[in-house]
Amino acid sequence: MSITDKALRERIKELTCLYDVSSIIVNADADYIEDTLTAIAFSLKKAFQFGDDTEIIITTQTLNIKTSSLQNDTVFITSEICLFNVPNGKIEAHLRTPKFSEQDFLNEEQLLLNSVALKVGSLLERIEIQNSETSLKRQMERADRLSILGEITAGIAHELNTPLANILGFAELLKDQLDAKNSTTRDLDKIIENAIFSREVVKKLMFFACEMPQEMTRVNLVPHIKNAIDLLDATFRKEQVKYVVKIEDDILLLKADPIQLTQIIFNLLINAIYFSPVYGLVTVTAYQTKRDIVLKISDEGIGFQIEDLDKIFQPFFTTKPIGDGAGLGLSVVHGIVASHKGKISAENNKNKGAIFTVMLPKE
Ligand SMILES: Nc1ncnc2c1ncn2[C@@H]1O[C@H](COP(=O)(O)OP(=O)(O)OP(=O)(O)O)[C@@H](O)[C@H]1O
Ligand SMILES: [Mg+2]
Repeated sequence: MSITDKALRERIKELTCLYDVSSIIVNADADYIEDTLTAIAFSLKKAFQFGDDTEIIITTQTLNIKTSSLQNDTVFITSEICLFNVPNGKIEAHLRTPKFSEQDFLNEEQLLLNSVALKVGSLLERIEIQNSETSLKRQMERADRLSILGEITAGIAHELNTPLANILGFAELLKDQLDAKNSTTRDLDKIIENAIFSREVVKKLMFFACEMPQEMTRVNLVPHIKNAIDLLDATFRKEQVKYVVKIEDDILLLKADPIQLTQIIFNLLINAIYFSPVYGLVTVTAYQTKRDIVLKISDEGIGFQIEDLDKIFQPFFTTKPIGDGAGLGLSVVHGIVASHKGKISAENNKNKGAIFTVMLPKE
């Protein structure tokens, strides 16, 4: 074969490769990027003059694709993959030594590598843009849903507040006029109980709707925990649930709204009591780190189903039977923690039960 024939053959192989790579990229599926890059690597390998002995390695931020595993002793040419003009990976073509040396790579092969690297770069850019568009879209849909939810609940809560207050007020008036033994009184108690429950739901809804005003002051978490425990002492006893408080410091200072702080503790404790078995132990731990005040509330109850874990902070998510819960407690807590620039997480405890960790910045 003449030299021109040989050069021509190489040129045809390169063009075929570029054509192949373009079709692979056109048909690329963002979810199977590894397959796409593997196909490109093999197509590139074929285009080299010593294709059988050439091994291609494509490296990106997350992937490392090889046409075959390589020993150490190789010579290679390389080309950078750039994403938005920033180096983000590379493509290499290797030949084994001592059989081959650097001279065995053709100039055209370096150029081919460069063109393919450019194509891979724009493919990865396209995927990145797609991904960020999808996540932006999802965020916007979520924000939309939340703001619509906010508007609807604001309306409903407002409309319900007055009639509910009336139901409660008149029921209490009626009860005063009746003698305690009357069976009607018991029915009235049910009305009052239910009206109070509904009022609590409305209160929580209003919390979402109209962003409760916040009064940030320097507060000591410790007495807030003790107060909440004292207030819930009767409930603990009624439900036959035990508790233990583990706080090493007397003073755990942070910047927070005191009422909202109490709401956090209350909601978490009420849930812990609700999900505790008889004689179950609820543990309240608080301590400080350099940056945060940490509050942990754990119980020995049923814990979470794994698939529920990312839903529990959503408004209206509840596994309690109808009438027992509206699914608003944790979403209120989540809102408060977020407005304090803190973090809350929930997980299953090692042995049994749930554990909530709240981290609130001191400043
Ligand atoms: N300590 C816990 N143990 C197990 N599951 C829990 C615990 N705390 C919360 N959950 C789960 O999270 C759900 C949502 O809790 P959240 O406090 O938001 O609503 P709720 O308690 O059901 O109703 P509400 O607080 O409005 O009265 C609960 O229904 C339950 O499934
Ligand atoms: Mg609750």
